Amino acid sequence: MRPMLSRTVAVTAAVLTVVLGVQAGAQAAPTPGSPGIGDVYYPEYGNGGYDVGHYDIRLRYYPDTDRLTGTTTILATATQDLSAFNLDFALATQSVRVNNRAATFTRQGDHELVVTPARPISKGSQVTVVVQYDDIPSQVVASGFTSWNRTADGALAVNEPEIAWWWYPSNDHPTDKASFDVSVLVPDGVEVISNGTPTRWAQQALVGWDRWSWRQERPQATYLTFLAIGDFDTYRDTSADGSPIVTAYDTRLDATTAAAARASVERTDEIIDWAAGKFGPYAFTARGGVVTGINDQGFALETQTRPVYDGVSFTRGTNNSLVVHELAHQWFGDSVALGQWKDIWLNEGFASYAQWLWSEDQNEGTADEIADYVYSVAHPADDPFWQVLPGDPGPTRLFHSAVYDRGALTVHHLRKLVGDEAFFAILQAWTGTNRDGDGTTPEFQALAEKISGVDLDAFLATWLYTPGRPDLGVTTLSVP
Ligand code: ARG
Ligand code: ZN
Repeated sequence: MRPMLSRTVAVTAAVLTVVLGVQAGAQAAPTPGSPGIGDVYYPEYGNGGYDVGHYDIRLRYYPDTDRLTGTTTILATATQDLSAFNLDFALATQSVRVNNRAATFTRQGDHELVVTPARPISKGSQVTVVVQYDDIPSQVVASGFTSWNRTADGALAVNEPEIAWWWYPSNDHPTDKASFDVSVLVPDGVEVISNGTPTRWAQQALVGWDRWSWRQERPQATYLTFLAIGDFDTYRDTSADGSPIVTAYDTRLDATTAAAARASVERTDEIIDWAAGKFGPYAFTARGGVVTGINDQGFALETQTRPVYDGVSFTRGTNNSLVVHELAHQWFGDSVALGQWKDIWLNEGFASYAQWLWSEDQNEGTADEIADYVYSVAHPADDPFWQVLPGDPGPTRLFHSAVYDRGALTVHHLRKLVGDEAFFAILQAWTGTNRDGDGTTPEFQALAEKISGVDLDAFLATWLYTPGRPDLGVTTLSVP
C-alpha cells in the first residue's frame, strides 16, 4: 500500500508540474507576430499572430493627380499574445490606432508596417486597427516594382500576387480571407467598380463628388479585392438566384471591340451556371465583369465575383474561353484559395482545363483533341516549355505557360487515369470541402486518392515535378 501511495503522490506532483508549466507559459511576455505567414515562395507575405475577419476601406481618389487618401479599419482576432504585429502596406501612413489608442508604427523594408499597440493584445481577443494614409500610389515602388496602375481615365488596382500594398493595409496572403466593404469618393462622372454588391451607386456626397460603395460578404483573399476607377458604361441585372449582376466596359473601347467584349462578358451568368454544373455550387452572391481599355493592364484577373479583362482580349472578336477561364477561377483560386503560392497550378491548371471542358460542350473540340494538340503540336518534346515544373515553377515564373498548359494536361490525364465518374466527384469534393478556404497539392492528392482508390504518387511526380515531356503510355497507367 505504502509504495502504491508514494507512487500516486509522485504522479500527482508530476501532473502539477505540467499544469504549472502551462500556466507559466500563458503568463509569458507577449511577443511580436511573425512578419510572414509561412509562404515558401514569399516568406514575408502575410503576417503571423492575428486573423482578419473584415476590412472596411474608405477612400477618396483624385484622378487628375492620382492622389489616394483614406482610412482602412481592420477587425481581427489575435491568435497569440501580441506585443506588436505587422501589416503589409506600402503607402505613406499618417496614423495607426489599435483598440482605441494611438499606436506607434515603423516601416520595415518597403511593404511592411510594424505596429506596436499602446497595450499588449491577448490571445483570442478582438482587435480593431485603424490606419490613415495619403499617397500617390502609382509612384510607390515596393519590392522593386509598382502595381497600382494609373490609366487614361482613372486607375486599376488589379494584380497577382501583389496589389493590396498599394491601396490598403492587410494580412496579404490568400490563407487569411475576410469580408470587405470598399467605399470610394470620386469626382462626379467617374465610375468605381469593385467586388460583390453595390450598396451606394454614384451617390452624391459633395458638390462635384460621388460616393461608390461595394460589399463583399463572402470570405475573399486580399489580392482578389480590386478597384477599377474610370469612365465605364455599366449594365445592371439580377441573376435567377437573386444576386446582382454588374458589368462595366471602358468607354474608350472602339465600337467593334466593345461589342465583342459584351458578346462574351454578358454571358457571365450563363457560364457561371454551366461551371456550377461541373464544379459544384457557386460560392458567391454577386456576378459580373469589368473590361478595361485596350492594353490598360495586359492580362485578365479572376477578381472575386467580377473578373477584370483587358480590352485587348476582344480586339479580334469574342473570347468566351477567357471568360470561362476567369469564371472557373471563382471555384479554383477564389473559393478554394492557394495554401501556398507554389501550388499555383491548382489555380491555373484547373481554370485552363475548364476552357477545354467548355470547348467540348460547345462542340469546338473535345478535351482529348485539345490535349493532343497541346502535347504534340503547341509544345513538341524539345520545347523548353517542358523544363518548367507546374508544381514548382519558382516565384518568378508563377504564370509561365507550363503552369497553365502542362497544369491542364495534368488534370486531363488525371481524368483519364481515374475515369469520368471519379474525376468529377474529385472536383466537386475539392470545391465542397475547401469552399471559402484553401488547399495545397498534397491535400488535393490525398482527396483524389481517397475518392478514386488510385495511388497518384508516380503520376503527380511525373506530371508536376519532373522536367521533360512525360511519356503518355507510362504516366497514365494506374499504379496497382
Ligand atoms: N490569374 C491570372 C489569370 O488567370 C493571371 C494573372 C497574371 N498576372 C500578372 N501580373 N501578369 O489568368
Ligand atoms: Zn488563370
